[in-house]
Amino acid sequence: MENNILQIIYLLASVSFIIGLKMLSSPKTARQGNFLAAAGMGLAVIATIFLYQGHEGPLGNKIWIFLGIAIGSLLGTLSAKRVKMTAMPQMVSLFNGMGGACAAAISLIEFGHINASSPSGMVFVVVAGLVIGSVSFSGSIIAYAKLQEILKSTKKLPAHNIFTSGMLVGIVGLTTWMTMGNIEPGTFYLLFGLSLAYGILFVIPIGGADMPVVISLLNSFTGVAAAFGGFLYDNQVMQTGGILVGSAGTLLTVLMCNAMNRSLTNVLFGAFGSGSSAAAGSGGPKSELNIKPTTASDVALIMHYAKKVIIVPGYGLAVAQAQHVIHEMETLLEANGVSVKYAIHPVAGRMPGHMNVLLAESNVAYDKLVEMEEINEEFAMADVVYVVGANDVVNPAARHDPSSPIFGMPILNVDKAKTVVVSKRSMAAGYAGIENELFGYTNCLMLFGDAKKTLTEVVSELKAL
Ligand code: TAP
Repeated sequence: MENNILQIIYLLASVSFIIGLKMLSSPKTARQGNFLAAAGMGLAVIATIFLYQGHEGPLGNKIWIFLGIAIGSLLGTLSAKRVKMTAMPQMVSLFNGMGGACAAAISLIEFGHINASSPSGMVFVVVAGLVIGSVSFSGSIIAYAKLQEILKSTKKLPAHNIFTSGMLVGIVGLTTWMTMGNIEPGTFYLLFGLSLAYGILFVIPIGGADMPVVISLLNSFTGVAAAFGGFLYDNQVMQTGGILVGSAGTLLTVLMCNAMNRSLTNVLFGAFGSGSSAAAGSGGPKSELNIKPTTASDVALIMHYAKKVIIVPGYGLAVAQAQHVIHEMETLLEANGVSVKYAIHPVAGRMPGHMNVLLAESNVAYDKLVEMEEINEEFAMADVVYVVGANDVVNPAARHDPSSPIFGMPILNVDKAKTVVVSKRSMAAGYAGIENELFGYTNCLMLFGDAKKTLTEVVSELKAL
């Protein structure tokens, strides 16, 4: 009887994951989707604790389980409440690492329950869960440390890729060996060590700003490892959850790579990401472009008399935390009869949906955020495009310069507008570490300074007009 109720609860929880995930695809329903899936997960956990009937009867150690849940919930809630928007990728990475560690812990415990006569499917699930969970754990912790700037190195070993490929071959070989019935603890713990080391070596050389792609990939690994746990315990909700995380992580990884026009191999085995933060420092590369600096009062004036203004937010808007001021500017312009929209590039910022979440914080209406494919046709009709803290996603070299590292990356065609205003602090490069030829175009004006400061000045000038 209890088992039947538990199965029904698992089914309901699985449905909540699927509907919740679907709801995450729109900013309007994302919050409820998140709550729905979390509630489903909570229900599945509580039901397992009270209703699960194993060979040895119901679960024991309930006090320990609830103590663990209480400590984990407290730490999770506090850190999620405190985290800054720009630090969200490392937070996701840390949480993902914990998921990987759980999957590996399951395998470490279940290894005690397998022997040479266990079915090879069961052995495979235990060993593969250990390998994937460990890679995901150590890789995510390194990603966290790099994004948090605790670890600054992107150094490679001599012949790094050959060495790590050799390790991977070794890991696959030992996994196969064990699955064939060779259950020695020595091999198992060697695999554990190799997998942890592989996770570290695989992530270390990757540039800080390529981390969102790697985190998403590691996230999909954790999902697969959790699904293996589900097969091991014949637990449908773990299987569904794991498969959903695994496939969602894989899709997101592919989408991010496509939006940057880069292959996954290019992201993982060395590309433009590694030098970006140095290039984006205060000095930046010396520019040969003929740039035209402007002032907040001039910008306010041209926007005041414009019919159509498109705002292009980027990473710098998040750094400056200028989302509230930009909303104020939008409201002032609209009150004056100017049509204002926001153009959202799929990889603007440093994580998927970064700009959507940032602007939602300041209550910008969702229907004002227009995706790249849709808005690109409108730039030619815009009187002013206000690019704030964005760089690579508006670089026209991506369209026509085969020598550019971002050649082929779909961009926002802001240069087609009558006037482009670019708000940034200096001539420093963006994430890709390259100069942006847009800044030298005849229709482009540079408004130098911190985005929040300059936007505040533009807003007060608009108020005075
Ligand atoms: P970036 O190309 O990185 O440019 C951001 C610009 O913001 C910089 O040039 C910087 O110039 C400026 N900035 C920084 N702080 C500022 C402040 N306080 N006030 C004003 N400006 C400031 O950003 P983007 O255009 O959003 O492009 C995103 C890049 O990240 C793309 O290359 C993309 O491929 C990459 N990426 C994104 C993702 C996801 S999922 N979003 C994942 C991996 C990689 P100054 O220093 O001169 O101010």
